[in-house]
Amino acid sequence: MNIRAAAPADSEAVRTILRQAFGQDAEADLVEALRESGDVVTELVADEGGQIVGHILLSELQSPDRCVALAPVSVQSDFQGRGIGSALIREAIERAKSGGWLAMILLGEPDYYSRFGFSVGACAKLETSYPKDYMMALELRPGSLAKLHGNLAYPAAFDQVS
Ligand SMILES: CC(C)(COP(=O)(O)OP(=O)(O)OC[C@H]1O[C@@H](n2cnc3c(N)ncnc32)[C@H](O)[C@@H]1OP(=O)(O)O)[C@@H](O)C(=O)NCCC(=O)NCCS
Repeated sequence: MNIRAAAPADSEAVRTILRQAFGQDAEADLVEALRESGDVVTELVADEGGQIVGHILLSELQSPDRCVALAPVSVQSDFQGRGIGSALIREAIERAKSGGWLAMILLGEPDYYSRFGFSVGACAKLETSYPKDYMMALELRPGSLAKLHGNLAYPAAFDQVS
């Protein structure tokens, strides 16, 4: 299994995985809206012998500065539970660190994301209307969490797509 940057030719396969993994169109529509608005920072796919079996996207938050949102991440159901989601998340984290981003934010299940270093407490000073019990952050550059305060603002595509 190879984790690589998503290419335009992967778009249809990515849409199929997102629709299957989430059981709806919203996440696939969100990914397309983020591509169109130019807010994508990193988009990766898991390629298993030429078959796309997983996908992850990082986008640039409007606020705080130099922070990225992780959403969505998905793995085709037949391939779940084999470490592909973890590999996608770890690679996205490495690329965001290399890119000089300060922190990564997500809305997700703490039981899953804490294994990658994300914590709910790291978001304590962020103002958000999202449920705080599921809002998590990961420091990408040492000391950056101290600057993680103020309003949390996702790219506009997140509001446009239900
Ligand atoms: C979440 C998801 C990306 C994980 O991918 P994966 O390749 O199955 O994950 P891995 O094999 O790396 O890790 C498996 C572990 O994740 C846990 N896990 C998977 N989904 C979880 C969830 N929603 N909540 C809590 N834990 C979860 C499994 O229980 C397993 O735990 P274990 O290692 O302690 O046994 C995948 O299950 C998926 O696509 N789900 C549907 C879409 C979704 O909910 N995406 C996340 C929200 S954006």
